[in-house]
Amino acid sequence: MTATDPSTAAAAPAELLATLPGRYYTDPAVFAREQERIFEARWFCAVRSADLARPGAFRTAAVGRESVLVCRNRSGEVRAFLNVCRHRGARLCTAESGEVRRSLQCPYHAWTYDLDGRLAAAPNMADMPGVDRRERGLIGVHVAEWLGYVWVCLADDPPSFEETVRQAVAARLGDEHAVERYGVAELALGRRVSYDVAANWKLVIENFMECYHCGTIHPELTDVLPEFAEGYAAQYYVGHGAEFGEGVAGFTVDGGAGFGRLDGLAEEQDRRYYAVTVPPQVFVNLVPDHVIVHRMFPLAPDRTLIECDWLYSPDVVYSGVDLSRSVELFDRVNRQDFAACERCQPAMSSRAYRDGGVLVPVEHHIAAFHTWVGELLGEAVP
Ligand code: FES
Ligand SMILES: [Fe+2]
Repeated sequence: MTATDPSTAAAAPAELLATLPGRYYTDPAVFAREQERIFEARWFCAVRSADLARPGAFRTAAVGRESVLVCRNRSGEVRAFLNVCRHRGARLCTAESGEVRRSLQCPYHAWTYDLDGRLAAAPNMADMPGVDRRERGLIGVHVAEWLGYVWVCLADDPPSFEETVRQAVAARLGDEHAVERYGVAELALGRRVSYDVAANWKLVIENFMECYHCGTIHPELTDVLPEFAEGYAAQYYVGHGAEFGEGVAGFTVDGGAGFGRLDGLAEEQDRRYYAVTVPPQVFVNLVPDHVIVHRMFPLAPDRTLIECDWLYSPDVVYSGVDLSRSVELFDRVNRQDFAACERCQPAMSSRAYRDGGVLVPVEHHIAAFHTWVGELLGEAVP
């Protein structure tokens, strides 16, 4: 027995809480349960509404184990369906995005569905007078639109959107109207960057929830937000936004001026950064002149696709002004964070992490996320 054998280690002192054991980040069986009980059961932020600009526009998104097809129907409403043909099960749309005129046609035997999912036509349909077109239509999934995004829920009986999404944001910001003042749904997409991250989705969330690492890995961010260099999770004190440093003009990579202040912001929202986690897969970052929204798509225990949108006032985007210094700050932060997550992922299957690691006091709020995961998986976690 060696001094590092966990069985001989003293019990952790009260200031250290346990993380999840390593297998929660690597075990395909845990991931399968998460797919079923979290991603296919909760509200999932799938696509940006403005990406479905016209009737007939569609996007596909990986939601849990399913491919979901989200489209805009002839009357301009958003609809979402499981992306599976009801004839013999071919994937209906294989493209990530596209536009059809008035119907979606399966490439296998040409069953054709209207944009409300009804079976509109099929070869030799005259031979099948008994077919009920609605009954044989695409399987719909629940849809909600908020902050300019389409959220879908694959559960038959979805949890309350109000309680599980809107109130999660309001609870963090300490005011149910705070996020509305940014007018997120009216902003325009300035830049989108996709990151293919070789790490479990929970590592990405845990990283986003703490700032203990900020002083070590985020030099540009701590220059703009000096309080982050202290390492405490300022983003998790209800209602608190991290204040820009003296001499910082805007939320940009060099602290130079950004693009003023979004209409409607309250005085106390100016010169501040607010980070909001909406579990299981959304981060919203609010600064005076733009909003950054991350959507995670967990693809495997050790792989997470992250789509990140930088949203600005339409005037700013359509003026053609150079956004690069503004985008570069959080793009660097993202790359620094995701590299840290990728550094941890291989260690999750090490014997050294069999019983997990620890959370220091400024990370203790992450334990609530672990409890949340445990409750949804129906198992007790440390
Ligand atoms: S599987 Fe789609 S038409 Fe046959
Ligand atoms: Fe970070």
